[in-house]
Amino acid sequence: MSSTAALDYQALDYTAEVAAATAPLYAKVARVIPEIEWPFHAPYVDAINRLKKERNAIVLAHNYQTPEIFHCVSDVVGDSLALAREAVTVDADVIVLAGVHFMAETAKLLNPEKTVIIPDASAGCSLADSITAADVRLLREKYPGVPIVTYVNTTAEVKAECDVCVTSGNALKIVEALDTDKVIFLPDEYLARYVASQTDVEVIAWKGHCEVHERFTGAEIEDYRKNFEDVVIIAHPECPPDVLDAVDFVGSTAGMIDYVETKQPKRVLMVTECSMSDNVAVECPDVEFVRPCNLCPHMKQITLPKILESLQTLEPRVEIDPAVADRARRAVERMLELS
Ligand code: 13P
Ligand code: SF4
Repeated sequence: MSSTAALDYQALDYTAEVAAATAPLYAKVARVIPEIEWPFHAPYVDAINRLKKERNAIVLAHNYQTPEIFHCVSDVVGDSLALAREAVTVDADVIVLAGVHFMAETAKLLNPEKTVIIPDASAGCSLADSITAADVRLLREKYPGVPIVTYVNTTAEVKAECDVCVTSGNALKIVEALDTDKVIFLPDEYLARYVASQTDVEVIAWKGHCEVHERFTGAEIEDYRKNFEDVVIIAHPECPPDVLDAVDFVGSTAGMIDYVETKQPKRVLMVTECSMSDNVAVECPDVEFVRPCNLCPHMKQITLPKILESLQTLEPRVEIDPAVADRARRAVERMLELS
């Protein structure tokens, strides 16, 4: 990795060279990014893609990132499970996590020797904020001997107090693989209830909620069904139970994308964060997307200018106290073994 950035990032103009270099990328996203916006994105896209090579850096992006990030500067995209898995295998000196803080922490847990940066360290998550390590220690005291399962949407300190981590893509499988009749599942109450509805294992839930998914209601879903004939409705398991009862399929963000790409419904409504529909629409031109637009304010903290700046400065870095990291890593590694 070179120590100085040889490119001139002060001059971010939409030149003929930048237009030519980014034209194939614009052709890909033209359905979801208006032409008038491209001159603002393109200089950043071009600079980021050149600086990534110079830094031997890789961008891992969550499915909720905006299309200019998801399709134009990312090397790996996916749900939390895919990002955790890829974090183990990436061949790069620097990992830029275009997502929220707990995702960057997971990447750092699995790559303690690498430089892991998140373009905006304030990109949090209402679920991760809903529980502390002290809360988990109290739960352990209250329910001695009951395994504690933590959703990946938690801090490293919380993971360090838990027995195994899960994502929305593998939660049911891992709860069943524990071979126990009861688990504590934290912090997402609705994901816990969804898992409980699919298994005989008794699930004790925490009361955390995702501020994006908790806003959807069953009544709203029924309205969409009435107003959009033959619409197929698919939802993330962080939604409330009345929403999940009213939809045609429940899955992680990757599960939802896979559903649309393989089944190619004529018309679909994805009950989740807003950018998902844009990102999938790029790959599925024949599918009509009905779009309620609930944005995750934390995911939207990540922007092209911040990605570029973080590649220039290699800040903000994600660092985890080694004593916490060793214990948190065990919970994440146990998930990867069991899934
Ligand atoms: P996925 O793991 O399904 O991508 O979910 C992460 C998340 O934060 C959803 O709100
Ligand atoms: Fe957290 Fe919800 Fe945002 Fe996902 S969508 S990062 S669960 S607040």
